[in-house]
Amino acid sequence: MDLGLTGRTFVVTGASNGVGLAIAAMLLADGANVGVCARDAGRLRAAVGGLPATAGARALCLGCDVLDGGAVARFVGDVAAEFGGIDGVVNNAGQSLMRPLFETTELEWTEQVQLKLFSVLNTVRAALPWLRRSPVASVVNVNAILARQPEARLAATGAARAALLNLSATMATELAPDGVRVNSVCLGLIDTGQWHRRYEAAGAGQPYEQWTAELARDRGIALGRIGSAEEVAFPIVGLLSPRSSYVTGASLDIGGGVSRYV
Ligand SMILES: NC(=O)c1ccc[n+]([C@@H]2O[C@H](COP(=O)([O-])OP(=O)(O)OC[C@H]3O[C@@H](n4cnc5c(N)ncnc54)[C@H](OP(=O)(O)O)[C@@H]3O)[C@@H](O)[C@H]2O)c1
Repeated sequence: MDLGLTGRTFVVTGASNGVGLAIAAMLLADGANVGVCARDAGRLRAAVGGLPATAGARALCLGCDVLDGGAVARFVGDVAAEFGGIDGVVNNAGQSLMRPLFETTELEWTEQVQLKLFSVLNTVRAALPWLRRSPVASVVNVNAILARQPEARLAATGAARAALLNLSATMATELAPDGVRVNSVCLGLIDTGQWHRRYEAAGAGQPYEQWTAELARDRGIALGRIGSAEEVAFPIVGLLSPRSSYVTGASLDIGGGVSRYV
């Protein structure tokens, strides 16, 4: 099925690894141009630069911290100048903070709120003039099941995630008259750099595969395993596609059945 993405241009933040990298790969393979960023530009170019592309699609890789509004405006402007417009944004850059509630400092709370809210506000604000001109404009905010299902030692990240879910719904309502769809995906446990870092920090003394299998069992993931970045990328690219033209303000869980709410 043609997803209608060929020749379109998408901004993907945090694309040097994990979910963002898998999204960039899928878009390029589908013939879409991507403007991608991460703070470490060298790692980003090494990861995205060699990805195969079809139909003449290209990637523009730029170093940018999504918390820096000025840098984001320059990054997004450069992407639009390079490709002649922007048709969609995936707000993916981010990470979580594991810390007991009353050991979380005020600065860490502020950083989590900034990372979850201002990374999205900065990027969408910068892209909006081009999104308003696109006939297929779409934003996907990468969120976490944690937004609805809180967990111990993730208070600041969870509260900021819940706020992002709320913000995304408002954004969908406010941007609908401009023809810009806005949706959220809420991830469970996905096999990316985040979990490799936690595995190393845990010093578990067992192979990574065994450690993640136990993690999946302990968390009660219905499918019995953690997910892959590629399994997350497909539904996100599907939401970007104009074939999802009547989907806005929605939130899709991608967690292998880890969520416990209905
Ligand atoms: N993996 C999971 O289980 C899981 C679960 C729930 C939600 N999520 C969310 O899904 C998204 C992707 O996660 P992932 O697991 O793929 O993470 P990852 O493998 O750690 O990759 C994160 C990416 O974001 C970039 N990044 C981080 N902070 C940034 C900043 N301030 N400005 C620009 N780029 C930044 C990183 O590159 P640099 O370090 O070079 O900047 C990297 O490219 C994140 O928002 C994460 O919180 C993941």
